[in-house]
Amino acid sequence: TVRHVAVLVGSLRKASLNRKTALALAKLAPPSLKLQIVEIGDLPLYNEDIDVAPPAAYVRFRTEMKAADAVLFVTPEYNRSVPAALKNAIDVGSRPRGEAVWSGKPGAVVSVSPGAVGGFGANHHLRQSLVFLNVPCMQQPEAYVGNAGDMFDAEGNLTSDRSRDFLQNFINGYAAWVEKQLG
Ligand code: FNR
Repeated sequence: TVRHVAVLVGSLRKASLNRKTALALAKLAPPSLKLQIVEIGDLPLYNEDIDVAPPAAYVRFRTEMKAADAVLFVTPEYNRSVPAALKNAIDVGSRPRGEAVWSGKPGAVVSVSPGAVGGFGANHHLRQSLVFLNVPCMQQPEAYVGNAGDMFDAEGNLTSDRSRDFLQNFINGYAAWVEKQLG
């Protein structure tokens, strides 16, 4: 069985290291796992008033998320926490009450930073929301990807075997985790 994984990237910029990491993971994933980025940059800030007649972007996002079997977060750290764009997507997907897109989808978190700490703060703040939303989140292997500024060449290819081996091990572990949860 092929499992469809919605990938949420916490950075909106074109040259994002996190987006490059998400695309690298999609290439490294075993055939049983199909990774597809679900876009979050067009979602209006969550507001219950406008959700009475939900904007097209909310409907599109919720539909794409509901169709996925699993969810992988690839995010930078902003001020030691989760970027607002990603938290907003989590909030949009959590409503209306009783129709959340998250519950039961096997999850995992990758944080990527050009800094040395590897986005640990964002990685763990994100897990706090995932506990509440009933997303069973892979514990090991963890992925705090630091010093990511030189991880890719101009074409977005990984520049070192060490990075490739690390991401390969991570995505293989995630594939096994997804199967264990859904299988
Ligand atoms: C950052 N950055 C950052 N890095 C980090 O390791 N810890 C942090 O707390 C922060 N805080 C922060 C706040 C804001 C508002 C911005 C814009 C940036 C730096 C960040 O890791 C860097 O810009 C990454 O390149 C962002 O990820 P993408 O866009 O390359 O995927």
